[in-house]
Amino acid sequence: MRDTDAPGQKLHKNLSAFDLTVFGVGVIIGTGIFVLTGQQAARNAGPAIVLSFALAGVVCALAALCYAEFASTVPVAGSAYTFSYATLGQFVAWIIGWDLCLELALGAAVVSRGWSAYLQELFDLPSWLAGDKARPDFGAAFIVVALTIVAILGAKLSGRVTGALVIIKVAVVLFVIGLGLFFVKAANYTPFIPPAQSAAKESGGSAPLLQVLAGITPQHFGWFGIVAAASIVFFAYIGFDVVATTAEETRRPQRDVPMGIIGSLIICAVLYMGVAAVVTGMAHYGDLDTAAPLAKAFDLAGQGWAAHLISLGAVCGITSVILVLLLGQARVSFAMARDGLLPPVLSKVHPRYGTPWVMSTITGAIVMVLAAFVPLSELSELTSIGTLFAFVVVSMGVVVLRRTRPDLPRGFKAPLVPWLPAVSVLASVWLMLNLPVITWVRFLVWMVIGLVLYFGYGMRRAKLSVERQEASAPTAPST
Ligand code: ALA
Repeated sequence: MRDTDAPGQKLHKNLSAFDLTVFGVGVIIGTGIFVLTGQQAARNAGPAIVLSFALAGVVCALAALCYAEFASTVPVAGSAYTFSYATLGQFVAWIIGWDLCLELALGAAVVSRGWSAYLQELFDLPSWLAGDKARPDFGAAFIVVALTIVAILGAKLSGRVTGALVIIKVAVVLFVIGLGLFFVKAANYTPFIPPAQSAAKESGGSAPLLQVLAGITPQHFGWFGIVAAASIVFFAYIGFDVVATTAEETRRPQRDVPMGIIGSLIICAVLYMGVAAVVTGMAHYGDLDTAAPLAKAFDLAGQGWAAHLISLGAVCGITSVILVLLLGQARVSFAMARDGLLPPVLSKVHPRYGTPWVMSTITGAIVMVLAAFVPLSELSELTSIGTLFAFVVVSMGVVVLRRTRPDLPRGFKAPLVPWLPAVSVLASVWLMLNLPVITWVRFLVWMVIGLVLYFGYGMRRAKLSVERQEASAPTAPST
């Protein structure tokens, strides 16, 4: 924390609890609710997708309490990365920092593909220019570049842009629930939990790891389907943890960060369950497997005008998700560079805007390339597994920090420690195990690359290692 005051490396402190809640909602509500709700209702859960959202919400709530305690104790940029550094040491910190790229940079790329698909739909753009089939996807690349510039211009400005987008987004979600209620047909809720169906014909790798390990024939629907859908719609909740990456820029982090994290999660959980219940009531779940299921549900109800409005809201709403993920990535890698795990030049702060501009520029360039070429749906699962892994480490870290540093002032204390963090770890691992085998393979490959980089660079260059070496080296005799 002391290093955060070093000249030239200090971030402006100007965000409040309200800013953080808006920021949280800004990154949480996005592709997950706008796309995955319908897709997973159609493929895995039926109308019981509401239960999947509830389940994923509970897993997030457990982790959120742990994040809140951590962020109120170690209010430094970098979120899970910094927490791990403070409790579990440099090696685990590197693993988590590397892992967070999956959540933040890859997440931003995935979400910008979704943005581009909605844009294409809204304006009926040629399919080579934007949307699912475009390679490169110019729409996705464009939005990443535009938002990188916004990110460099400053957190407060970004907060304002996010604020405006969040209002539109929440209004659209409330509109879906409010208007949609009038078109709900009770018949669409039967069966509420569609009977399990064998998915044996599916190509290898797409079955949940848990089903494969347990020797169960992979299946859709039924209770297993609800859990499988929960692990995928979990993506919709990603973002409350990103609030913690701004702790260093918050005026009263001990109070404001827990409020921002928990507040934004509760708001979104309620909205999600409302949307899921209404949309599966408006249309039969089998009809919702499209790129824009919320709009489709209104189309099917004969309300084309509402469908257009929802598409417009989705484009605006998804914009703020990309922005906040980009900001989060820049801040995490900024923190890693400040600690010496990445080259120190990356931790430069802009003299005028007070933002980590070098890191933002590099992040923007990488995400732009990913966004132009990366396919959307499968990689959202890679983003989810990366995020859940961070939840596991943070939950463990809470228990460790209570033991090693009981003296630290904690603005917020998670209840029932160590039991609550233990359940949080198990719950996150359980969702991870319900993700497809191929997602696990990709995740492990990424982590192995991270290990190679750590042993090749970070381990030797890290500030803590250098300071230790200097401290133990014999001092030169003075002449
Ligand atoms: N939760 C964010 C979304 O749904 C990442 O797009």
